[in-house]
Amino acid sequence: MRTNQVPEHIVVRQRGELHGTVDVPGAKNSVLKLMAATIMADGTHELTNVPAIADVAIMGDLLAAIGVDSTVPEPGRLVLTNRGDLVPVAPYELVERIRASINVLGPLLGRCGRVRLAMPGGDDFGARPIDMHVAALETMGAEFKFSHGDVEARADRLHGAAVSFAFPSVGATENVLTAAVFAEGVTTIDNAAREPEVVDLCDLLVAMGADIAGVGTSTLTVRGVERGSLRPVGHRTVADRIQAATYMAAVAVAGGDVVVRDARPEHMSNLLARLADMGMDFEPVPGGLRVAASGRLRSIDVQTLPYPGIATDYKPLVITMLSVADGVGIVTENLYPGRFRYVEELLRLGADVRTNGHHAVVRGVPRLSGAPVRAHDIRAGAAMVVAGLAAEGETVISGVGHIDRGYDDLVGRLRSVGADIERV
Ligand code: EPU
Repeated sequence: MRTNQVPEHIVVRQRGELHGTVDVPGAKNSVLKLMAATIMADGTHELTNVPAIADVAIMGDLLAAIGVDSTVPEPGRLVLTNRGDLVPVAPYELVERIRASINVLGPLLGRCGRVRLAMPGGDDFGARPIDMHVAALETMGAEFKFSHGDVEARADRLHGAAVSFAFPSVGATENVLTAAVFAEGVTTIDNAAREPEVVDLCDLLVAMGADIAGVGTSTLTVRGVERGSLRPVGHRTVADRIQAATYMAAVAVAGGDVVVRDARPEHMSNLLARLADMGMDFEPVPGGLRVAASGRLRSIDVQTLPYPGIATDYKPLVITMLSVADGVGIVTENLYPGRFRYVEELLRLGADVRTNGHHAVVRGVPRLSGAPVRAHDIRAGAAMVVAGLAAEGETVISGVGHIDRGYDDLVGRLRSVGADIERV
């Protein structure tokens, strides 16, 4: 698979209510980790409900360099063949393109006993350290060396340990989990992340033959199994709650009545409760969730938290919804203090938002005013598209490559429910 980045723009014009049905594809933040887990068993694995996004292609390139080839026989299906003869090295050119490349650390260390990986850099919204991954793997017997921008880890065989995270990091939980599968003895992970995407990874590993208890809770217990005892399986990727929330946000600002097919309300219950407080209506329907909104919504206060709290990835969408709601809302970011950069773009559209440290105060205005804006990261980009639906005139979004990293045909899906949106 190859990735191709062509500079393009998305043009959105305010048109009115959205009606119809939109499908939610599989989650980026799950499928990338499922792909990395195929390092752990030789043979042919099959993932379904795979979103057509750039990050899947980039992860495919990284895995190909390691020794796992992938093909897409039809849309949504990804077949990965682990040749068995792995090269436990993740070079800079590939790592710098995708943060989730850090997820090969646990599988490679467990499987090969060594790994060399370029240190992942920061993101547009701030530093992305890996100290928790490193400290936990050290307690399992790994030795780390940092030089020339690379991190090298070694452990002939890891041993089980009691790991207790000060914060439920998604990536650190996933790396310790995958590394523990082939460790000698029992590993417990306290204060583990329990996002639906972490559960999806656990489900895959268990189906492959791993012994994991406590799936979906804050304490995971992993009993190590022999290397070579895992087998490839077929697995359906969990639906993307952030993409689902994006279509809900679109209805929130444009009004209308849309069935978000495959949305999993049980994975978004806190967000749905708050959107209901704003005045949105939700009704579970077979295979999805019906979402309706009319008129101006009410402002609320929101803070981001690890799952099951309101995810930081929803926040640009929430701030956009609040930008055109009635009243004042205060949004507090508890995960990435710098994740407010897109606010400058919302200001260009006429929003009234002030940020101070971890907080944003959003004074709703009746409508936004279309302008050229930039997508600074995946979620901020999606928020610009949603903002365009509530902006008079034309909103032209650049930096579309960011949106393509995590959204499978955002433009086509919004058009299918009546939005006036195109790529140019
Ligand atoms: N942190 C540390 N040290 C560590 C690990 C994390 O200080 O060793 C801090 C981070 O700096 C951050 C917080 O802990 O402040 C949360 O980090 P976490 O490890 O939970 O996040 P992640 O695994 O790096 C994933 C998603 C992000 C999402 C976060 C939080 C993937 C590939 N990425 O990142 O998604 O925001 O969890 O839910 O799964 C996105 O999809 O656009 C995205 C950024």
